[in-house]
Amino acid sequence: MNNPHGHRTYFRSFLLHFRPRNVPERTLRLSLTWGLGGTALVLVFLLIATGLMLKFVYEPFPDRAYESVLYLNSNVPFGQLIRNIHWLSANGLVLVVFLHLLRVFYTGAFTRPRQLNWIIGLAAFAAVVLSNYTGYLLPWDQVSYWAITISTSMLDYLPGVGTNLKEWVLGGSEPGPGTLVNFYAIHTAILPALLLIALPFHFWRIRKAKGLVIPRSMDEDPDTQGELVDTMPHLIVREVAMAVLVLAVILVVAMLFNAPLTDQANPGLSPNPTKAPWYFVGIQELLMHFHPVFAVLVIPLTLFIGLLSIPYLKYDTDSSGVWFVSQKGRGLALLAVAVAIAGTVAGVLLDEQVFVNGVIGSPDMVSTGLLPFAIILGFCTGFYFLLKKGFKASNNEAVQALFTLLTTAFVVLTVIGIWFRGTGMQLMWAG
Ligand code: HEM
Repeated sequence: MNNPHGHRTYFRSFLLHFRPRNVPERTLRLSLTWGLGGTALVLVFLLIATGLMLKFVYEPFPDRAYESVLYLNSNVPFGQLIRNIHWLSANGLVLVVFLHLLRVFYTGAFTRPRQLNWIIGLAAFAAVVLSNYTGYLLPWDQVSYWAITISTSMLDYLPGVGTNLKEWVLGGSEPGPGTLVNFYAIHTAILPALLLIALPFHFWRIRKAKGLVIPRSMDEDPDTQGELVDTMPHLIVREVAMAVLVLAVILVVAMLFNAPLTDQANPGLSPNPTKAPWYFVGIQELLMHFHPVFAVLVIPLTLFIGLLSIPYLKYDTDSSGVWFVSQKGRGLALLAVAVAIAGTVAGVLLDEQVFVNGVIGSPDMVSTGLLPFAIILGFCTGFYFLLKKGFKASNNEAVQALFTLLTTAFVVLTVIGIWFRGTGMQLMWAG
C-alpha cells in the first residue's frame, strides 16, 4: 500500500459514511445530551448480542421455559451472567430512553426540523417498552406469569374489542402455550426488527437536521453555531469513552446482582399482591381510582396523543437549545413538580381514606366514570389558566409546565404502586 496511513484513512472514510466531517463544539458538551441517546444505543446492542446467545438455550414452552432458564443459570458457562446483562440492559433501556425523551423535551429539540424525529423516537420508545413487556413473561416464573395475567386483563376493559384483543394477544383465554409462542416471536423477531428499522431512521434525521440542537443561553440568537471541530477524534473519543463506561457499569452490576427468578409459574396460585411490570404499575394505580375505561383507554390515549402533538403545537418563541425555555420556565416547571407530587399524593390518599364510599370511585360514579376524569381535566385546565393568566407564561413555558405536571404525576403513581402497595394492594408505608 502506497499510503503509510492506509488503515487510518480507510477507517476515517468508513466512519464518515455515518458521521459528518465536523460538528459544532458546543454539541459535545455532556450537559447537552448527558450521553443518554448513546447509552440507549449501547444497551440496544447489548440486548441484541445477549439475546442471540440466550436463544441457544431458552425454550418457549410452558413445561420447558422455566427449566431452560434454570439450566442456563447453573449449567451453561457464563449463562447466569448473560441473563443478568440482558435483564439489566432491558430495564435500564426503558429508564434511559425515558430520560433521553426528557432531555430532548427540556432542550426544545423537538421543534423544526426535528419534529419527525420526535415521532420516530416515540415509536422506538414504544418498541422498547413492548420488547421489555414481551420478554417479561419468558422465564415463566410466578412473578412474570402473574404480571402478564394482570396487565393483559386490563385489555378486557377496552370497550368492544377488549376481550377479543386480549385473547388474540394471549393466544387463548389465559397465559399458556399460545402466549409464549406469541410473545417469543414478537420479542425475538418483530420488535427487534422494528427497532433496527426505526433507529437508523432516527440517526439519519439527526444528520438531516445538521446535527444536534446547539445549546445556547436565552439571549443568544437561535442560529448561533459556535466553533466547529473534527468529528474524529473529538466526538468519537467521547462516544467510545461513554460506551466503555456503560459497558463497565453493566458488567459490574451484572456480576454483583442476579436477575430475579421466583418459583415456577403456578396458574392456580396468584401471589399477593400481583403487580404489573414496573412501567405499567402507574396504569394499574390509575385503575384503582378511575373507571377502567378511563384508566386503560381514555387517560393513556390522551397522554399519548399529547406526546405525539408536542412538536406541532403553537409556540411563541424558538427555544430550541435553551434548557427549560427560560428562567421563568424553569421556575414554573419546578412549581409543576411540586403541584403534581402534592396533588397526586393527596388525590390517592383522599380517594382511599376519605371517599372510599364517597365521591371519587363510589359505585355510581364508577358506572359513569365521568366525575374523576372531569376533576382531573378541570385541575389541568385550571393549572393551565393559572400559568397563562396568573404567571403570564408564554406558550412554550405553559406547555412545558403542563408536560411536567403530567409526567411527574405518572411517576408518582408508579412510585406509589411499586413501593407503597402491599398485600391486597393496600396502601402501606414502606417497600
Ligand atoms: C431506543 C431508543 C432511542 C435511541 C437508541 C436514541 C438514540 C439517540 C441518539 C444516539 C441521539 C443523539 C445523542 C443524544 O441526543 O443523546 C438521539 C437524538 C435525538 N433523539 Fe433519540 N433515541 C431513542 C429514543 C428517542 C425518543 C423516545 C425520543 C423522543 C420522543 C427521541 C428523540 C430524539 C431527538 C429529537 C433527537 C435529536 C436531539 C437534538 O437534536 O438535540 N429519541 N437519539
